Amino acid sequence: MTTPRMMRIGTFLAGTGSNMASWRHPKAVPDAAINLDYYRALTRKAEDAKLDFAFFGDGLYISEKSHPNFLNRFEPLTLLAALAMDTSRIGLAATLSTTYSDPYTVARQFASIDHISNGRAGWNVVTSPLEGSALNYGKPEHPAHDLRYRMAAEYIEVAKGLWDSWEDDAFIRDQTTGQFIDPTKMHRLNHKGEFYSVQGPLNIARSRQGRPVLIQAGSSDAGRAFAASVADAVFTGQANRADAEAFSADVKTRAAAAGRDPAQVLIMPGCSPIVGRTPQEAEAKYLEIAALVEINSALDYLGRYFNDLDFTQYDLDAPFPELGDFGRNGWESATDSIKRTAREKELTLREIAQQVTTPRHEFIGTPDQIADTMQSWFESGAADGFMLSGAVLPQAFDDFTDQVLPILKRRHLFRTEYESDTLRANLGLPTPPNRHTPTRKASAAG
Ligand SMILES: Cc1cc2nc3c(=O)[nH]c(=O)nc-3n(C[C@H](O)[C@H](O)[C@H](O)COP(=O)(O)O)c2cc1C
Repeated sequence: MTTPRMMRIGTFLAGTGSNMASWRHPKAVPDAAINLDYYRALTRKAEDAKLDFAFFGDGLYISEKSHPNFLNRFEPLTLLAALAMDTSRIGLAATLSTTYSDPYTVARQFASIDHISNGRAGWNVVTSPLEGSALNYGKPEHPAHDLRYRMAAEYIEVAKGLWDSWEDDAFIRDQTTGQFIDPTKMHRLNHKGEFYSVQGPLNIARSRQGRPVLIQAGSSDAGRAFAASVADAVFTGQANRADAEAFSADVKTRAAAAGRDPAQVLIMPGCSPIVGRTPQEAEAKYLEIAALVEINSALDYLGRYFNDLDFTQYDLDAPFPELGDFGRNGWESATDSIKRTAREKELTLREIAQQVTTPRHEFIGTPDQIADTMQSWFESGAADGFMLSGAVLPQAFDDFTDQVLPILKRRHLFRTEYESDTLRANLGLPTPPNRHTPTRKASAAG
């Protein structure tokens, strides 16, 4: 009997929620982004709901215009370590940028989280879209978009090599003989590439899941190529099912061309449900959230995609300004999509700012309507699962887990129990073997 394909659901726990004004919502916890008890409670609830993983995003540059959740928040790996102690089954994933870090340090940090959590770590590999990040790291300039992805590709090759420094049975620790390691099972990487030079070995063993689950969220041509070559899971924001189907087909085709099994590259579009007992109630909830956002906040939010561009200089009710290539060095796919939507739908700056800040998407409705939409995305190949986010947290999270998730479970689209206690196995992904073991065994035998 074959196991039915199951939806994978991760949850984006972003302080008070993704909406710029979420902290003002009557049910918000306004200091949520720096409140450990809040995150502990929410992560435990996500584990009770049997979600695949909790995810924490990150960025390396803020200004007074940034989303309130970004102004005062935890460094996410530190947060993962705390949450690992509170949970035992749910995966724990966080963002870390390859543009502003060193592979040896980061490979250690994620390997440590993977050990501390007993095989539940995930890394969202980003290249940092925000140009201001360079100012915080003493760099003369933010590396160009495609160069950042080239650096990231080499970086991940190094990290994967470092994670294989030790074969699984390399640590003997025989107190009688005094043999601590088997030196034939320790491997130096000796990497010298275009951007990185790393000898190795890493000073930590492989984890129970082999290595942390790799997540990627780029949607540009370079981003998709990178995701297809390395990612176990791909986050993506897609406006509708047709776009998501095209995205998924493209990334899976690229993965197959790179010699990978496309079924092992999980496509997880964002799903930010707004749930009502009736369609009218859901619509009223959407309007309540949209009304919290003042237009200047919406312009700030939009500006972050465009290197903090001051949109107040433009006429709000004139067509969205002509920006040429501006913005492409940061969020290439997002800024391309904003400009294209403005052009095709002939939208004003005000309309674009409102739509980007409080998107009207396919996941607004009754629990059954939302479950139907998720099922149709899942069955059409648009999604292997979803990244659950919330315009306003914890309300959106509670509405989803209390009202939509039971429907998905009843339809046998989502698990009722964890299959395993590692993230990789719960996602249905095999544990990667250590690259050195087969060759060492072969040469020992021959
Ligand atoms: C669901 C999702 C989560 C993301 N999380 C982060 C994040 O935490 N930090 C970050 O710098 N970028 C994050 N990004 C942005 C991506 O890393 C990437 O820069 C963006 O999607 C533009 O990709 P592109 O340059 O390939 O077009 C996220 C994107 C998506 C869709």
